[in-house]
Amino acid sequence: MTKTKIKKSIPRRPFVAGNWKMHRTASDTKILIEDIVQRVQKVATVDMVVCPPFTSLPAAAETLGRHSILALGAQNMHQTKEGAYTGEISGPMLRELGVRYVILGHSERRQYFSETDASVAVKAEAAVGYHLRPIVCVGETLAQREAGETNQVVETQIRGSLAHFPAAHLDELVIAYEPVWAIGTGKVATPKQANEVHHRIRKLLVTLFGEAGSSIRVIYGGSVKPDNAAELMAEADIDGALVGGASLDARSFFDIIEAARPVRASEND
Ligand code: 13P
Repeated sequence: MTKTKIKKSIPRRPFVAGNWKMHRTASDTKILIEDIVQRVQKVATVDMVVCPPFTSLPAAAETLGRHSILALGAQNMHQTKEGAYTGEISGPMLRELGVRYVILGHSERRQYFSETDASVAVKAEAAVGYHLRPIVCVGETLAQREAGETNQVVETQIRGSLAHFPAAHLDELVIAYEPVWAIGTGKVATPKQANEVHHRIRKLLVTLFGEAGSSIRVIYGGSVKPDNAAELMAEADIDGALVGGASLDARSFFDIIEAARPVRASEND
Protein backbone atom coordinates (compact mmCIF):
# COMPACT_ATOMS: atom_id res chain seq x y z
CA MET A 1 0.00 0.00 0.00
CA THR A 2 1.26 3.49 -0.75
CA LYS A 3 1.47 5.96 2.10
CA THR A 4 -0.56 8.65 0.37
CA LYS A 5 -1.67 11.54 2.54
CA ILE A 6 -4.54 13.78 1.56
CA LYS A 7 -5.61 17.19 2.76
CA LYS A 8 -8.69 17.27 4.92
CA SER A 9 -11.54 19.43 3.66
CA ILE A 10 -12.04 20.85 7.15
CA PRO A 11 -8.70 21.61 8.80
CA ARG A 12 -8.81 19.78 12.11
CA ARG A 13 -5.45 19.63 13.82
CA PRO A 14 -4.25 16.02 13.94
CA PHE A 15 -4.30 14.42 17.39
CA VAL A 16 -2.24 11.40 18.45
CA ALA A 17 -2.39 9.99 21.96
CA GLY A 18 -0.57 7.03 23.49
CA ASN A 19 -2.60 4.97 25.94
CA TRP A 20 0.00 3.11 27.96
CA LYS A 21 -2.67 1.14 29.84
CA MET A 22 -1.13 -0.73 32.84
CA HIS A 23 2.44 -0.57 31.56
CA ARG A 24 5.63 1.10 32.80
CA THR A 25 6.68 1.85 36.35
CA ALA A 26 7.65 5.42 37.25
CA SER A 27 11.34 4.83 36.55
CA ASP A 28 10.61 3.15 33.20
CA THR A 29 8.33 6.07 32.39
CA LYS A 30 11.21 8.55 32.62
CA ILE A 31 13.24 6.58 30.10
CA LEU A 32 10.38 6.23 27.61
CA ILE A 33 9.30 9.88 27.89
CA GLU A 34 12.88 11.09 27.36
CA ASP A 35 13.12 8.98 24.22
CA ILE A 36 9.78 10.21 22.85
CA VAL A 37 10.54 13.86 23.62
CA GLN A 38 13.84 13.71 21.77
CA ARG A 39 12.13 12.40 18.65
CA VAL A 40 9.12 14.74 18.58
CA GLN A 41 11.01 18.01 19.17
CA LYS A 42 10.43 19.26 15.63
CA VAL A 43 6.80 18.18 15.28
CA ALA A 44 4.77 21.39 15.42
CA THR A 45 1.56 20.45 13.64
CA VAL A 46 0.19 17.52 15.63
CA ASP A 47 -1.34 17.53 19.12
CA MET A 48 0.58 14.82 20.99
CA VAL A 49 -0.45 13.26 24.29
CA VAL A 50 0.88 10.44 26.46
CA CYS A 51 -1.35 8.71 29.01
CA PRO A 52 0.76 6.69 31.49
CA PRO A 53 -0.68 4.95 34.56
CA PHE A 54 -1.62 7.21 37.51
CA THR A 55 1.48 6.22 39.47
CA SER A 56 3.75 7.30 36.61
CA LEU A 57 2.15 10.71 36.09
CA PRO A 58 4.45 12.63 38.49
CA ALA A 59 7.56 11.10 36.89
CA ALA A 60 6.17 11.87 33.44
CA ALA A 61 5.35 15.47 34.40
CA GLU A 62 8.79 15.99 35.89
CA THR A 63 10.53 14.57 32.83
CA LEU A 64 8.42 16.64 30.45
CA GLY A 65 9.00 19.94 32.25
CA ARG A 66 6.60 22.82 32.19
CA HIS A 67 6.39 23.79 28.54
CA SER A 68 6.47 20.48 26.79
CA ILE A 69 5.01 19.99 23.33
CA LEU A 70 3.90 16.60 24.60
CA ALA A 71 0.79 16.86 26.81
CA LEU A 72 -0.06 14.55 29.64
CA GLY A 73 -3.27 12.54 29.91
CA ALA A 74 -4.78 10.17 32.47
CA GLN A 75 -6.63 6.95 31.69
CA ASN A 76 -9.63 7.52 33.94
CA MET A 77 -10.99 9.91 36.56
CA HIS A 78 -13.63 9.95 39.26
CA GLN A 79 -16.23 12.66 38.77
CA THR A 80 -16.23 13.86 42.38
CA LYS A 81 -13.72 16.42 43.61
CA GLU A 82 -12.88 14.41 46.74
CA GLY A 83 -14.56 11.98 49.09
CA ALA A 84 -14.83 8.43 50.42
CA TYR A 85 -14.14 6.60 47.14
CA THR A 86 -11.37 4.13 47.95
CA GLY A 87 -9.01 3.56 45.06
CA GLU A 88 -10.25 6.47 42.94
CA ILE A 89 -8.47 9.57 41.60
CA SER A 90 -10.14 12.97 41.14
CA GLY A 91 -9.87 15.65 38.49
CA PRO A 92 -8.19 18.22 40.78
CA MET A 93 -5.58 15.59 41.76
CA LEU A 94 -4.77 15.09 38.09
CA ARG A 95 -4.73 18.80 37.31
CA GLU A 96 -2.21 19.47 40.05
CA LEU A 97 0.17 17.07 38.34
CA GLY A 98 -0.10 18.96 35.06
CA VAL A 99 -2.51 16.53 33.40
CA ARG A 100 -4.50 18.10 30.54
CA TYR A 101 -6.47 15.20 29.04
CA VAL A 102 -8.38 12.24 30.38
CA ILE A 103 -9.44 9.09 28.55
CA LEU A 104 -13.03 8.20 29.49
CA GLY A 105 -15.09 5.10 28.72
CA HIS A 106 -12.30 3.03 27.21
CA SER A 107 -13.72 -0.37 26.22
CA GLU A 108 -11.49 -2.07 28.80
CA ARG A 109 -13.10 0.05 31.50
CA ARG A 110 -16.54 -0.68 30.09
CA GLN A 111 -15.73 -4.42 29.94
CA TYR A 112 -13.81 -4.99 33.20
CA PHE A 113 -14.93 -2.13 35.44
CA SER A 114 -18.61 -1.81 34.56
CA GLU A 115 -18.41 1.67 33.06
CA THR A 116 -21.52 2.66 31.16
CA ASP A 117 -22.55 5.47 28.85
CA ALA A 118 -24.28 7.05 31.84
CA SER A 119 -21.14 6.99 34.01
CA VAL A 120 -19.03 8.30 31.13
CA ALA A 121 -21.50 11.16 30.61
CA VAL A 122 -21.16 12.23 34.24
CA LYS A 123 -17.36 12.02 34.08
CA ALA A 124 -17.11 13.89 30.77
CA GLU A 125 -19.15 16.78 32.12
CA ALA A 126 -17.12 16.81 35.35
CA ALA A 127 -13.80 16.64 33.49
CA VAL A 128 -14.29 19.92 31.64
CA GLY A 129 -15.28 21.49 34.95
CA TYR A 130 -11.79 20.55 36.19
CA HIS A 131 -10.16 21.88 32.99
CA LEU A 132 -9.41 18.38 31.73
CA ARG A 133 -10.09 17.60 28.08
CA PRO A 134 -11.99 14.33 27.68
CA ILE A 135 -11.06 11.67 25.12
CA VAL A 136 -14.34 9.75 25.02
CA CYS A 137 -14.06 6.20 23.65
CA VAL A 138 -16.71 4.27 21.76
CA GLY A 139 -16.69 1.12 19.65
CA GLU A 140 -18.51 -2.09 18.87
CA THR A 141 -17.61 -5.69 19.74
CA LEU A 142 -17.01 -8.32 17.07
CA ALA A 143 -20.43 -9.88 17.73
CA GLN A 144 -22.11 -6.49 17.30
CA ARG A 145 -20.25 -5.84 14.04
CA GLU A 146 -21.14 -9.26 12.69
CA ALA A 147 -24.78 -8.67 13.60
CA GLY A 148 -24.73 -5.44 11.57
CA GLU A 149 -25.19 -3.31 14.68
CA THR A 150 -22.05 -1.15 14.49
CA ASN A 151 -23.69 2.15 13.62
CA GLN A 152 -26.50 1.73 16.10
CA VAL A 153 -24.12 0.74 18.93
CA VAL A 154 -21.76 3.63 18.29
CA GLU A 155 -24.61 6.12 17.98
CA THR A 156 -26.11 4.95 21.30
CA GLN A 157 -22.70 5.21 22.99
CA ILE A 158 -22.10 8.73 21.70
CA ARG A 159 -25.56 10.02 22.53
CA GLY A 160 -25.33 8.46 26.00
CA SER A 161 -21.73 9.39 26.78
CA LEU A 162 -22.24 13.03 25.74
CA ALA A 163 -25.70 13.37 27.28
CA HIS A 164 -24.62 16.16 29.64
CA PHE A 165 -21.71 17.58 27.69
CA PRO A 166 -21.69 21.39 27.85
CA ALA A 167 -21.77 23.01 24.42
CA ALA A 168 -19.31 25.69 25.53
CA HIS A 169 -16.58 23.03 25.88
CA LEU A 170 -17.01 21.19 22.58
CA ASP A 171 -13.64 22.36 21.28
CA GLU A 172 -11.99 20.46 24.17
CA LEU A 173 -13.64 17.16 23.30
CA VAL A 174 -11.98 14.33 21.38
CA ILE A 175 -13.88 11.19 20.35
CA ALA A 176 -11.94 7.93 19.90
CA TYR A 177 -13.56 5.26 17.77
CA GLU A 178 -12.01 1.98 18.90
CA PRO A 179 -13.63 -1.18 17.56
CA VAL A 180 -13.21 -3.65 20.42
CA TRP A 181 -12.25 -6.47 18.04
CA ALA A 182 -9.28 -4.42 16.81
CA ILE A 183 -7.82 -3.59 20.23
CA GLY A 184 -4.64 -5.49 21.02
CA THR A 185 -5.49 -8.13 18.43
CA GLY A 186 -3.41 -6.96 15.48
CA LYS A 187 -6.71 -6.94 13.50
CA VAL A 188 -6.89 -3.35 12.36
CA ALA A 189 -10.07 -2.02 10.76
CA THR A 190 -9.46 -1.26 7.10
CA PRO A 191 -9.23 2.46 6.38
CA LYS A 192 -12.57 2.22 4.58
CA GLN A 193 -14.27 0.36 7.47
CA ALA A 194 -12.93 2.87 9.96
CA ASN A 195 -13.76 5.90 7.86
CA GLU A 196 -17.35 4.74 7.34
CA VAL A 197 -17.91 4.77 11.08
CA HIS A 198 -16.01 8.05 11.53
CA HIS A 199 -18.21 9.60 8.87
CA ARG A 200 -21.35 8.48 10.71
CA ILE A 201 -19.92 9.84 13.95
CA ARG A 202 -19.17 13.17 12.30
CA LYS A 203 -22.74 13.44 10.99
CA LEU A 204 -24.11 12.56 14.41
CA LEU A 205 -21.92 15.19 16.11
CA VAL A 206 -23.24 17.82 13.69
CA THR A 207 -26.81 16.65 14.36
CA LEU A 208 -26.23 16.89 18.11
CA PHE A 209 -24.18 20.09 18.27
CA GLY A 210 -24.67 21.92 14.98
CA GLU A 211 -21.68 23.40 13.16
CA ALA A 212 -19.49 23.05 16.28
CA GLY A 213 -19.73 19.29 15.79
CA SER A 214 -17.66 19.50 12.61
CA SER A 215 -14.56 20.70 14.47
CA ILE A 216 -14.49 17.93 17.12
CA ARG A 217 -11.55 15.58 16.47
CA VAL A 218 -12.57 11.96 15.86
CA ILE A 219 -9.56 9.66 16.17
CA TYR A 220 -9.17 5.93 15.49
CA GLY A 221 -7.79 3.30 17.87
CA GLY A 222 -7.21 -0.42 17.55
CA SER A 223 -3.88 -1.96 16.48
CA VAL A 224 -2.56 1.29 14.98
CA LYS A 225 1.06 0.66 13.98
CA PRO A 226 3.65 2.57 11.93
CA ASP A 227 2.85 0.48 8.86
CA ASN A 228 -0.92 1.14 8.84
CA ALA A 229 -1.11 4.64 10.35
CA ALA A 230 -0.63 6.66 7.16
CA GLU A 231 -3.40 4.87 5.27
CA LEU A 232 -5.80 5.29 8.18
CA MET A 233 -5.00 8.94 8.61
CA ALA A 234 -5.30 9.65 4.92
CA GLU A 235 -9.05 9.08 5.30
CA ALA A 236 -11.08 12.28 5.32
CA ASP A 237 -12.85 11.67 8.62
CA ILE A 238 -9.97 10.21 10.65
CA ASP A 239 -8.23 12.99 12.58
CA GLY A 240 -5.59 11.01 14.41
CA ALA A 241 -5.02 7.94 16.55
CA LEU A 242 -5.32 6.53 20.05
CA VAL A 243 -2.40 4.14 20.17
CA GLY A 244 -2.00 1.29 22.65
CA GLY A 245 0.86 -1.17 22.25
CA ALA A 246 2.80 0.82 19.66
CA SER A 247 2.92 3.87 21.95
CA LEU A 248 5.21 1.95 24.34
CA ASP A 249 7.97 2.09 21.78
CA ALA A 250 9.28 5.63 21.17
CA ARG A 251 10.24 4.97 17.56
CA SER A 252 6.87 3.44 16.67
CA PHE A 253 4.96 6.20 18.43
CA PHE A 254 7.00 8.83 16.60
CA ASP A 255 6.43 7.13 13.25
CA ILE A 256 2.67 7.17 13.87
CA ILE A 257 2.84 10.87 14.77
CA GLU A 258 4.74 11.49 11.55
CA ALA A 259 2.02 9.68 9.62
CA ALA A 260 -0.57 12.03 11.14
CA ARG A 261 1.38 15.15 10.26
CA PRO A 262 -0.55 17.21 7.69
CA VAL A 263 0.95 17.40 4.23
CA ARG A 264 2.53 20.64 3.20
CA ALA A 265 1.18 22.07 -0.06
CA SER A 266 4.41 21.23 -1.88
CA GLU A 267 4.21 17.59 -0.75
CA ASN A 268 0.68 17.32 -2.04
CA ASP A 269 1.42 18.40 -5.62
P1 13P B 1 -3.72 -1.30 20.69
O1 13P B 1 -3.12 -0.19 19.85
O2 13P B 1 -2.72 -2.02 21.51
O3 13P B 1 -4.59 -2.20 19.85
O4 13P B 1 -4.71 -0.60 21.75
C1 13P B 1 -5.63 0.33 21.30
C2 13P B 1 -6.25 0.99 22.45
O5 13P B 1 -7.00 0.39 23.20
C3 13P B 1 -5.90 2.39 22.71
O6 13P B 1 -6.72 2.96 23.69
